[in-house]
Amino acid sequence: MSESIRLDHLTKRYGGHLATDDVSLEIPAGRFVTLLGPSGSGKTTLLMMIAGFVRPTTGRIVVSGRDITDDPPERREFGMVFQGYALFPHLTVAENLAFPLKLRKMPRARIEQEVRRMLDTVHLPQLGGRYPRELSGGQQQRVALARALIFNPKVLLLDESLSALDKNLRAGLQEELRDLHARLGTTFVFVTHDQEEALSMSDEIVIVNHGRIVQSGAPRALYDRPRTRFVADFLGRANFVEGIVTASAGTAISYEAGGIPLRQAGPSDGPPVRPGDAILVGLRPEKLRLARDEPGGATNRTPAEIALVTFEGADHHVRLTTPLGPMQAVVPSDAAGPQPTRGDKVWLSWDADASVVLHDDR
Ligand SMILES: Nc1ncnc2c1ncn2[C@@H]1O[C@H](COP(=O)(O)OP(=O)(O)O)[C@@H](O)[C@H]1O
Ligand SMILES: [Mg+2]
Repeated sequence: MSESIRLDHLTKRYGGHLATDDVSLEIPAGRFVTLLGPSGSGKTTLLMMIAGFVRPTTGRIVVSGRDITDDPPERREFGMVFQGYALFPHLTVAENLAFPLKLRKMPRARIEQEVRRMLDTVHLPQLGGRYPRELSGGQQQRVALARALIFNPKVLLLDESLSALDKNLRAGLQEELRDLHARLGTTFVFVTHDQEEALSMSDEIVIVNHGRIVQSGAPRALYDRPRTRFVADFLGRANFVEGIVTASAGTAISYEAGGIPLRQAGPSDGPPVRPGDAILVGLRPEKLRLARDEPGGATNRTPAEIALVTFEGADHHVRLTTPLGPMQAVVPSDAAGPQPTRGDKVWLSWDADASVVLHDDR
């Protein structure tokens, strides 16, 4: 009930501007794939090419082995949900849902049955008789989702579909969307600029910047092993330490930053380095330990001063000044001992395999 999508060297040029720059991507059938990137990175252009509303300048789009590059949108039979809800305002919810089925000339009794089934699926069984203006934003978005899914498309395309909703509503719909995906097995291609949304929802994240794919993979893999400064920075929070390599043997690297000797070990996808090279190391804030006294046994440690503490509920987010430059740490707010406070002199420490070497694409 789902299809695979292959993008083969897709390029889209608007005048002199390359909105999509030689993108190749395999989306296996039934996968929940998220295109994540900053505003203007080319996410919508990619989705519109898959949908058939934008013609690629060069390259092919292949769905389950069939080249659909020259097919008009309606031949592709994909479901679509965009940021504005785009419901027909003069039709009731039930009539909105019935619309794609009428287009497909489904018998009236079947249509009524399918509309009822779909209203149940998106948890709006009572609202078929309402008009879109009589619904909340979240309800409208659920109707838009239902209308996109009612004809059992084998692919669902979603462009910033939840971005207009407030935070709690969005979290609820994110869970519903994942649940729907798990139940239907449809291929989902989801576009967002929201990294948390991408991390929590997807089987696979494809990070897009300047019209190109910069890295893709499972959320955890991308978070733990970003290849570049851009990916480390865009996906979650990151510290960056810029140093000079003093010794290297395979994945074990000694380097120095701010006059402090440091060690890096474990797998990375960064560039190979030799003594004397500049090195860029990325380190997630939650990998840092914060202590009052110098942790004598720690492989990596630096003195630091707390510059700012932000209470975030479960955690404190702590900004620090250090000889390595500004750093940030995340400390559970129920941690034993004194609470971190601005002006405190502390020590930061971390394990050699807590960091990764990055390509500096800045
Ligand atoms: N129809 C168009 N004509 C000219 N430039 C466009 C058009 N659509 C998009 N662009 C440009 O292509 C780039 C990518 O846009 P878009 O795909 O909308 O990015 P995103 O969805 O990631 O914000 C932007 O620089 C945008 O200005
Ligand atoms: Mg967009």
